[in-house]
Amino acid sequence: MQITDKLTGAEETARQFVYMDKAKEYVERLAAKLERRPTCCVTTFGCQMNARDSEKLAGILERAGYELTENEEADFVIYNTCTVRDNANQRVYGRLGHLGSMKKKNPHKKIALCGCMMQEPAVIEKLQKSYRFVDLIFGTHNIYKFAELLVQMFEADGMVVDIWEDTDQIVEDLPIERKYPFKSGINIMFGCNNFCSYCIVPYVRGRERSRNPEDILREIRALVDDGVVEIMLLGQNVNSYGKNLEHPMSFAQLLREVEKIEGLKRIRFMTSHPKDLSDELIEVMKQSTKICRHLHLPLQSGSTRILKAMNRKYTREDYLALAARLRKEIPDLAITTDIIVGFPGEEPCDVDDTIDVVKQVQYDNAFTFIYSKRTGTPAAAMENQVPGEVVKEGFDRLLKVVQDTARERVALLKGQTLDALVEEVNEQDDSLLTGRLSNNTIVHFKGDRSLIGEIVPVYLKECHGFYYLGELVR
Ligand code: SAH
Ligand code: SF4
Ligand code: F3S
Repeated sequence: MQITDKLTGAEETARQFVYMDKAKEYVERLAAKLERRPTCCVTTFGCQMNARDSEKLAGILERAGYELTENEEADFVIYNTCTVRDNANQRVYGRLGHLGSMKKKNPHKKIALCGCMMQEPAVIEKLQKSYRFVDLIFGTHNIYKFAELLVQMFEADGMVVDIWEDTDQIVEDLPIERKYPFKSGINIMFGCNNFCSYCIVPYVRGRERSRNPEDILREIRALVDDGVVEIMLLGQNVNSYGKNLEHPMSFAQLLREVEKIEGLKRIRFMTSHPKDLSDELIEVMKQSTKICRHLHLPLQSGSTRILKAMNRKYTREDYLALAARLRKEIPDLAITTDIIVGFPGEEPCDVDDTIDVVKQVQYDNAFTFIYSKRTGTPAAAMENQVPGEVVKEGFDRLLKVVQDTARERVALLKGQTLDALVEEVNEQDDSLLTGRLSNNTIVHFKGDRSLIGEIVPVYLKECHGFYYLGELVR
């Protein structure tokens, strides 16, 4: 199954282009039958990394001759799934049932599933048993073979399933169809080696692998030539970038190189693990004119005892000291975080500790999650699971503080004029544009849609909870 691993990355890329042409023949045949161009829809669940993978899927589908749409009535629908929490999983099953009924009405319809959820053997069993109408299933490690798998799907009678346990392959230069012309995510690394005890990501995304800096820089230069002004460097733990490269390089060094790219205006990155955030990184951020004033720094818990059980490798005090250093060195930095409530063994006093950290750090925003038991992770086997009503009580208490703090932080910007990257026309009111400040705050203001993709100064006039209404400054 994995003979292709023996090829070099470039050979594999060439091989996949041959399959794209072959897939195109099948799509053209379908077009002749339907007397129109077949449509496809890529639906993404989960994180930014999945969103970027979906752009790769879309690039290949487009090249194979499909017309991209956002409507799941399409002739080909692919779900790029997430399994980080059980509710992500349940949503996929729910919507899949609906796709199945659409397929009964459109016999040409093909349905594919890929992404993190597919790396779980129990999921594959369930799909093979109860969702026989799915045409193609593959995982996270062989996504670069999507063109080849499409051809297999067209040639097969029943369901095609191809899941790999891991890979060390990174295949460059396959086509990508970006969602936004002016901003883009870029993978700098894949996988994760941290094994936080609650988290399934290391099991479904495999071991940590960094891309070569030359490949990353080349991709960014090409994006900039193509109109991109803002990039987001993506990895589960960007702070450990480069450790396993032939010529090791730190994340801060990579940022220095990215900063030099002419025409690039904004640099973001995600996610930073607190245990690996270096002084060098703080220094680079401080000096940079392009790195955005936003750091996502997941806390998970403010209790040292729980952090230890989570295998996070920092204490409450370590985290607080780091946050204080960041606030001192980069005063206009927005800090956001992720927090889990209800980890096994968590007591109300641990939630108190978490709330106390939220108050001290003053997060600009925090994503709060109820702990979800993931099969195969160490935490799932822990005996002291917390009862639902206790979790709910802690969660509500935390959420209130998180929201109050975020409101206070956002309100501090009132009256300033700051640069916003104009991202889109406002969904509710089309006389307004929606822009994003360097610190990730959203601002709506009157303006012409021709400004989309530009960075413009906006006066922050009225604070509405978590966002602003502003005025374009000319
Ligand atoms: N690599 C990133 C996180 C990726 S997952 C990091 O370490 O920061 C995004 C978030 O989902 C995590 O930060 C965590 O808060 C949450 N999460 C992960 N596993 C979870 C689980 N089993 N239950 C609830 N939330 C979880
Ligand atoms: Fe999961 Fe921890 Fe890796 Fe983040 S660092 S992906 S939370 S194991
Ligand atoms: Fe979900 Fe996979 Fe991302 S499990 S959060 S899509 S890495």
